[in-house]
Amino acid sequence: MCGIVAYIGKKEAYPILIKGLQRLEYRGYDSAGVALLSNGELNLYKKQGKVANLVDFASDKNTTGQIGIAHTRWATHGEPNDKNAHPHSSSNGNLAIIHNGIIENYDVLKEELISRGYVFKSDTDTEVLVHLIDDIQKKEGVWFGEALRIALLSVTGAYAIVVISKDKPDTIVAARKSSPLVIGIGKENDFYLASDATPIVEYTDQVVYMNDEEIAVIDLKDGMKLWNIQDEEKTPYVQHLELQLEALEKGGYEHFMLKEIHEQPRSINDCFRGRLNATEGWVELGGIKDYEQQLINANRVVMVACGTSWHACLVGEYLFEDLARINVEVEYASEFRYRNPIINEGDIVIAVSQSGETADTMAALELAKSKGAIILGICNVVGSSISRITHAGSYTHAGPEIGVASTKAFTAQVTVLTLMALSIAHKKGTMNETKFRTMLAELELIPDKVKKVLENNAHIERIAAEYKDATNALYLGRGSSFPVALEGALKLKEISYIHAEGYPAAEMKHGPIALIDEAMPVFVVATKGTSYEKVVSNIQEVKARKGKIIAIVTEGDEQVKLMADHIIEIPDTDEHLVPLLATVPFQLLSYHMAVMRGCNVDQPRNLAKSVTVE
Ligand code: M6R
Repeated sequence: MCGIVAYIGKKEAYPILIKGLQRLEYRGYDSAGVALLSNGELNLYKKQGKVANLVDFASDKNTTGQIGIAHTRWATHGEPNDKNAHPHSSSNGNLAIIHNGIIENYDVLKEELISRGYVFKSDTDTEVLVHLIDDIQKKEGVWFGEALRIALLSVTGAYAIVVISKDKPDTIVAARKSSPLVIGIGKENDFYLASDATPIVEYTDQVVYMNDEEIAVIDLKDGMKLWNIQDEEKTPYVQHLELQLEALEKGGYEHFMLKEIHEQPRSINDCFRGRLNATEGWVELGGIKDYEQQLINANRVVMVACGTSWHACLVGEYLFEDLARINVEVEYASEFRYRNPIINEGDIVIAVSQSGETADTMAALELAKSKGAIILGICNVVGSSISRITHAGSYTHAGPEIGVASTKAFTAQVTVLTLMALSIAHKKGTMNETKFRTMLAELELIPDKVKKVLENNAHIERIAAEYKDATNALYLGRGSSFPVALEGALKLKEISYIHAEGYPAAEMKHGPIALIDEAMPVFVVATKGTSYEKVVSNIQEVKARKGKIIAIVTEGDEQVKLMADHIIEIPDTDEHLVPLLATVPFQLLSYHMAVMRGCNVDQPRNLAKSVTVE
């Protein structure tokens, strides 16, 4: 949610900043802007819309300079237009600032600044920061880095900030609290700052992930120094970046989303690596080993997440309850944090998040931690905030997910939850050895079975063509295929803007059935298993009302074939593992329908990849 990038060194900053913004555009694309220091001048350009608009706008401007900051915005305060785009500058034009996050007490600060004569040019919360720094500089006679530190003492909210000033053209100052900020240490006494490591990876593999309430002062002469806002010096912890540049490119696919859907056989395999050995009959999640006994003894596990990750938790609930006999509650993080949730001794809270930065999920975790819970994380982004505040956790190892609609991250989350459930069930004795070994062998086959599902792409594309003009759609499933239905519906609405709802198949008759007519496509998971016959009855109910059935069935199914308008076959597998296969056709259907409708599948309107505001 908003992407920030900055550079200081001996190279020309502008091309580095623009490339960085393009990498971060998935975080927001309402507007983009850049500020460069060059020969005592501060040149600032910003434009509504995508980074490409900014590039056009700046094409005939002076974009020289070896120090610069840039921003791509997902609007919170103030509509997406030129004036609200970042960077924001001080009234005297000396300072420029970029910010990701929200200044919660901006209205109080703004009123005070206005009363002292400051004129605001935008409707953003961010602009108060730049005037506040300016004001403190004037009042206290301090340099802008110290003024920023003092300013932050009176700020409530979340921020990743970078500031430059004409007064100190060899220095860049950054600060972070609850919004991510990474500093790349270049090879030529240069530094790269960004919301995540994607703009940095091609220049260096040495990075420092800033901690909350830290301030970085980077100077061309003295290099980087870290302080906290209480003015105590901190030692930077330099880490090696594992990211590969190719992972950030489309690799011949038309969209990142399509590439990421096709990466799933690989990403699920990567998730198994070192954790699953069906031949030897073991499964082990090293990251949570220290808390394994607590998991085995847990009376209750609470899973908190948002969006697609919340759907993964719902699949996890079925797995934990059925296989490991642990009582699980799945909570929307945004709801959990504003209740007074009951956390008992021995409860474990697991947060699931692709980005590891989702503000609501972070806040829910912090609340649970403050109430004494053991908090575990399942994240995709290495070094992300959630992975750093949890007691322990497991990475999903899906690799960077750039498409705003989550695909491979979902199946990787479900894979980790499956491994966890199996490991606990085996150790707890709720699953016998034979069943355990059979499940491990089945699980190991999943990547190849996903490959087989992907081979149906052309067939799925033809089905998409028939329903691309639908205005509504229903998704149905039972058991652990109910969250698959929810996920299918979310995928469709977020990238194609078709209204879609997911329901447990049996719930249809309690209301949604009223919507069914010949124009309503109903996407159903009707694979072999406990509820198969029940789902078949639900399909008949839809057909009796002339609805169109698109059913995901187990290979070789004959019964549903006779009733459905279209079937999509998936390979047979253990019932518990069906979500890992049945999700994939829904991803492809949504993708093709959105492309046929001319939608921007990688950057759907109004959305951002990482939601760092509540
Ligand atoms: O990074 P997280 O997994 O915490 O993100 C949670 C949701 O914002 C995310 O899953 C969102 O719903 C996606 N757009 C779904 O495709």
